[in-house]
Amino acid sequence: MLSKLHAVAAVDLYRGEGPISQEELRARISDKEALVCVSTDAIDRIVLDAAPQLKVVANVAVGYDNIDVAHARSRGVVVTNTPDVLTESVADFTWGLILAITRRLAEGERLLRRGDWKGWAFDLLLGSELRGKQLGLIGHGRIGRAVAARAPAFGMRVAYTSQSVADAAAATDDGPARAMSLDRLLITSDVISVHVPLTPATRHLIDKRALARMKRSAFLINTARGSVIDEAALAWALQQHLIAGAALDVYEHEPAVSSELLQLENVLLVPHLASGTTETRSTMAELAIDNVIEVLAGRPPLTPVA
Ligand code: DGY
Repeated sequence: MLSKLHAVAAVDLYRGEGPISQEELRARISDKEALVCVSTDAIDRIVLDAAPQLKVVANVAVGYDNIDVAHARSRGVVVTNTPDVLTESVADFTWGLILAITRRLAEGERLLRRGDWKGWAFDLLLGSELRGKQLGLIGHGRIGRAVAARAPAFGMRVAYTSQSVADAAAATDDGPARAMSLDRLLITSDVISVHVPLTPATRHLIDKRALARMKRSAFLINTARGSVIDEAALAWALQQHLIAGAALDVYEHEPAVSSELLQLENVLLVPHLASGTTETRSTMAELAIDNVIEVLAGRPPLTPVA
């Protein structure tokens, strides 16, 4: 895959363990025309200004909240992301989390590994069924829709809210999925899954007030961005059993996870894995590289950010 890039440019490949430091990034980008980066790289104003010849920043992620897109634009730098290619993989993973938290798989595994399993018991770690219940999607873009498409297999009906239905008055039916206001979705859903990008408008969209509106029997799933949920408020809601449980793939301060969450049994915590299959990660990398090749050749990028 990298050979494609080598054919058109001299490549400076970072091989370090963990994310590159901002200092090293600034130094290495200073004479470059293109940058391929991931969501742990903060491509802020200072980094962008350190690269006067930069033409394109190709993020190997669908989310691009790690990039100061407005500043890049003002400098004439194209920003691209990797939509579509990870949609199915993230949707599958979301259902993995839904099933795992509602059927208490991680709790069961912890119990067994601790040596605390005393044998089959009629009421051991009873879970909740999905059939006949409502899946509420916060965000109804590509990934939200792919999650919705899998709901009939589990007998769930789907409700969603998105920016276009922020006003309850605008809510309409959209095929098998029902549009509704965020408040109504919070009050009526049994499983709520977050699929919005992180923007100033969605930061802490799920706060104490939102959590208090959820059913006590409801579960919250997040494979989008950690900061869409106020993590401290979520820990409080789980401690108080205001909701039944949560399954998180993303966190406010990755790789740190709040110590309150780490102590709770009713939350499933995994390390930002949703798009992590060999197939999808390869396709994401390939798309990012193709975006660079297009821009360096003077052609429009394949997937510029909106
Ligand atoms: C994405 O593509 O946005 C994933 O969360 C990986 O960063």
